[in-house]
Formats: sequence, structure tokens, C-alpha cells
Amino acid sequence: MPPIIAMNPAARANLHLIDHPLVQHKLTLMRDRDTSTNSFRQLLNEISSLMAYEVCRDMTLQDVQIQTPLETMTGKHIDGKKLVFVSILRAGNGILDGVLSVVPSARVGHIGLYRDPQTLQAVEYYFKMPKDMHERDVVVVDPMLATGNSAVAAVTRLKQCQPKSIKFLCLLTCPEGVNTMHHAHPDVPVYTAAVDRGLSDHGYILPGLGDAGDRIFGTL
Ligand code: URA
Repeated sequence: MPPIIAMNPAARANLHLIDHPLVQHKLTLMRDRDTSTNSFRQLLNEISSLMAYEVCRDMTLQDVQIQTPLETMTGKHIDGKKLVFVSILRAGNGILDGVLSVVPSARVGHIGLYRDPQTLQAVEYYFKMPKDMHERDVVVVDPMLATGNSAVAAVTRLKQCQPKSIKFLCLLTCPEGVNTMHHAHPDVPVYTAAVDRGLSDHGYILPGLGDAGDRIFGTL
């Protein structure tokens, strides 16, 4: 078992822990190995939409003139089209429905990476983003920020598109993942529902919830 690693205080300061009771309740149900694929997917949808509220907390609002049935007023409006949720394949796709239920006009990008068994480096096999990325705010989604290697590679690649901002949204992480992300990308805040104890020898989060992709897609 690898040693327990402490979270770097600077990385902790850049971490948003979403400890709302509804999120924590649903996360516990998801961790339970007896939770079915169907329930796991449903809970991930629900938890993702709750977490999207927190990720969108600092979105900029524009004034908009509207007519109520009684009079004219200035309301507030977000430009959801300027937001891009970027899924790290394949488990990131499990978060998309939930976040899109909250910001339905957001755009969606996908990044596919695999780890080369020889070099252990992340190799890109798919990359598709909306155009005009330099005008957009990005939220990268992946349920598990474990070693942090693929998350760091995905953010590094995204930065080539020069988006206005990047946030990272996951369900679970651990000190190793938070530290690795902060070391490579201190400008990227991480939003998570829990920081678990650490990593297994095989790079699984402990106590975790197992392989998120397998649990979402029923490929156990
Ligand atoms: N990816 C997963 O799906 N689960 C983990 O625990 C770590 C990485």
C-alpha cells in the first residue's frame, strides 16, 4: 500500500469541497458496491446537476430587459452558450446529462486519452471542441481525479485552445490527485464531493467507488 500523502496547503486552497448533505448522501449510495448500474447512473446524474450549481456560482450575469405581465424590468441572464463542458472519455460522459440539465445551452467537448504502456505517457486519440474556444469558459468533467495524470494532460491540451477559464469537476479525488493537478495547473480550481484517503497500488482511489466507467456503463 503506498504511503498516505498529505494535501499541499496551496492545493487545498484551490479546492472546492461540495459538502451539501444531498451530495454526500448520494455519494455514499454510489460508493456502495451493491448499488446497481441503473441506480449508479441515476445518482451520478443527480449529483452532477447539484454540483453544477456550485461550479456555476461565479458565472457572470448580464442585464436583460424583459416585460413581466405588469411592467418592464431589468433581469439577469447567463450566456450558457459560452460555457463548454469537456468530458474526459469515457467516464466523464456520465457527468454530462446532469450538468446539461442545469445549463442546457452549454456546448460539449470530448477528449480521449490512453496511457502508453511503454512510456506511461498520456496519448491523445480523440479531441473535439466547439469553435471559438478563446471566448469560452471550460469545465472539464471526470468522476475520478486519481493520480491526476490524465486530468493534467487533458488540461494541458485544452490550454492550447486558450479558453477564457478552466475549472475541473470530479466526484471523488485524493491528496495525490489534488497535488498533481495543482502542481501542473495552479490556475485550475478543482470541485469535488470528497477527498478520499489515497491511492491503491493500481491507482484506484481508496475507499473510492471502484472503476467509475465500469460502474456507469455496466462493464464490470
Ligand atoms: N478511475 C476510476 O474509475 N476509479 C478510481 O478509483 C481511479 C481512477
